[in-house]
Amino acid sequence: MLAACASYHPSPAQQMHSGPSPKLRADNIPQVVQAMTLKEKAHMVVGMGMRFGPPKPGITAPPQKVAGEAGSTYAIPRLGIPSIVMCDGPAGLRILPYRKGDSSKSYYCTAFPVASLLASSWDPALIREVGKAMGSEVRAYGADILLAPAMNIHRNPLGGRNFEYYSEDPLIAGRSAAAMIEGIQSNGVGTSLKHFDANNQETSRNTINEIISERAWHEIYLRGFGIAIHEAHPWTVMSSYNKINGLYASENPELLDTVLRRHWHYQGLVMTDWFGGKDPVAQMKAGNELLMPGTPAQVKSIEDAVKNGSLPVSVLNRNVARVLGAVVKTPSFHHVAYSNHPDLKKDAEVDRRAASESMVLLRNEAQTLPLKPSENQVALFGNTSYHLIAGGTGSGHVNKAYMIELNQGLRDAGFAPDAALEHSYGQYLDSAKARQPKTLPWWKLPPPVPELQLSTLALQQAAQKDEVAVLTIGRISGEGSDRTVKDYFNLSSREQALIDAVSQAFHEQHKKVIVVLNIGSAMNVASWRDKVDAILLAYQPGQEAGHSIADVLSGKVDPSGRLATSFPMRYQDVPSASSFPGTPKDKPIQVVYKEGIYVGYRYYDTHQMQVAYPFGYGLSYTHFRWSGAKLSSSVFHREISVRVTVTNSGSRAGKDVVELYLHAPATTLDKPVHELKAYAKTRMLAPGQSQTLTLVLHPRDLASYDPVKQDWVADAGTYQVQLSRSSKDMVDSLTFALNRVLNLGR
Ligand code: BGC
Repeated sequence: MLAACASYHPSPAQQMHSGPSPKLRADNIPQVVQAMTLKEKAHMVVGMGMRFGPPKPGITAPPQKVAGEAGSTYAIPRLGIPSIVMCDGPAGLRILPYRKGDSSKSYYCTAFPVASLLASSWDPALIREVGKAMGSEVRAYGADILLAPAMNIHRNPLGGRNFEYYSEDPLIAGRSAAAMIEGIQSNGVGTSLKHFDANNQETSRNTINEIISERAWHEIYLRGFGIAIHEAHPWTVMSSYNKINGLYASENPELLDTVLRRHWHYQGLVMTDWFGGKDPVAQMKAGNELLMPGTPAQVKSIEDAVKNGSLPVSVLNRNVARVLGAVVKTPSFHHVAYSNHPDLKKDAEVDRRAASESMVLLRNEAQTLPLKPSENQVALFGNTSYHLIAGGTGSGHVNKAYMIELNQGLRDAGFAPDAALEHSYGQYLDSAKARQPKTLPWWKLPPPVPELQLSTLALQQAAQKDEVAVLTIGRISGEGSDRTVKDYFNLSSREQALIDAVSQAFHEQHKKVIVVLNIGSAMNVASWRDKVDAILLAYQPGQEAGHSIADVLSGKVDPSGRLATSFPMRYQDVPSASSFPGTPKDKPIQVVYKEGIYVGYRYYDTHQMQVAYPFGYGLSYTHFRWSGAKLSSSVFHREISVRVTVTNSGSRAGKDVVELYLHAPATTLDKPVHELKAYAKTRMLAPGQSQTLTLVLHPRDLASYDPVKQDWVADAGTYQVQLSRSSKDMVDSLTFALNRVLNLGR
């Protein structure tokens, strides 16, 4: 709980030392910094604070321009500096839907698909569109910076925030984040690329010391951020809570200065995660220019440090200038009028389409899907079918106006969900909900409602009456905790029993069983998949979930998503299983990234391990033929490109994805057997239609990070280009030579 004041007004005595008062413009930042008092400068690099929970006597909370905002910066009116507003988060704008004294109007936002789903589209153009819609709501509600996208690596499937993150692979993560940034920022509002860096777990997140080899750090945990920053120039970057090799990210000059500023030439602003790090002076020196949400104690330490000489005023000036550099871009600075009326209808359509186009069809035995017109009568099982999960909890949550459940989605698509089942589940969930705690701290999840146990008679009746069974398995998670293997990665015993019972009853009637996975992150499917006929991975699709899922089940949309994260056979197979979430087990203080660069498919494929579903995998309702694969040259010079023609050889319209993995010579360093280096998705191809795709490789795509040379190095030798449908399904391969070693710099 923190006190703060709305804007900083120095006393006349303080102003006497501050010279004339220029008004801030984009081209006079140094002059404005020059004109500021020390106190003003210290306030400029520390946010206005935030209040947790209900108001407490004697504590003034900072005023909120946008109710529910996550934080804001100080205004200094005499210098024309406005306060700027920051809001969460990655799946849509998170603000309060209602305002005190204003019951006539709601302030809902659209809950868009979570990042793990969007990444599965392998379609930056689609993600850009989602970003554009999301950013339009930021602008319409008068906020300046959306605290998104989040792009840490799916190091382990138990990561509580994996749903907010894109992939186990830095190329997909980086390109997806870049597209999201471009889309959001096209509205003239800012983003905050987070959490820089390696916030790959929630357990002990504020203190955990992550021991990461230099090579893994550069190749896996920094690379995606580098791509996003290079391609999309986010206005701000948010440093992460954790320590990396002993230093808090927000106090780490190598991360924030050497890598971000010097090697990547980043020009924007770095802010802390909320209450991240410990030492404001170390943060200032490291290049973490803004401390969020900000405390009076931080302001004081900074002022004191300048006075006692432990913080050079030049460092403070630099940081203030960078904060002002962000301020001058914002709608608040430009006095942009805002409507408080985003086009929620249009944005809901974007959510619906983006979600259905990104879903991954994992299993489709004997063409179970799409549902046939005769399969109109659907038996809908699983609590989650009637209570779909739009997205995760914590700062990734969005206050949406409504949720389309699966029974409604199917009904709207012309199907008839079994009314008796609807009734039983409705009653069961209503009474379970009534027993749930009424209020919970923001980081706490309500206890999961055990699956409804249906009688054998009810199941048999449904199997006789209905033509097909659809069963949804749900998982939710969020900030503050990681998940467990029991009942989270694995099915609970009730879920297992439900799958068994439904499959038995429907298969006895020669009817099909389809499972929909409404989850945030990879889970065990290998132990039960053979019992069912089809599996659709819907992830957490946002508020139109029921429509998006029905669009794929009905065949209105051809599934064209591909896994951006491997689904392992068992939890024990995960390369980080033995080290996650660190030691000591009960309250970890340190986690050693023992697997190094061998994360996800880099590990499974190099060690020829079986997985349930590989990275890059996904089925379609149609078929595609690839032909004419050709390299632009047999020798690599500045770049090399590969062309391949994709033809829809099936009978339905659809989109296909070509994945390019590179097998590089391992002369000086060990290398994964191959790594994803490019990908491209076709437009919608009607049956018989073709499209030629061109995928380009640049020097850095050939290189690995050499910790001895401290440089990205591409070895001379023969490179194999693999054109694949997944990391384990190569369709065609071509080779080229690199005639000399390339040292590329960091
Ligand atoms: C989260 C950030 C979020 C911030 C502000 C923190 O707890 O880690 O992702 O943007 O809160 O809500």
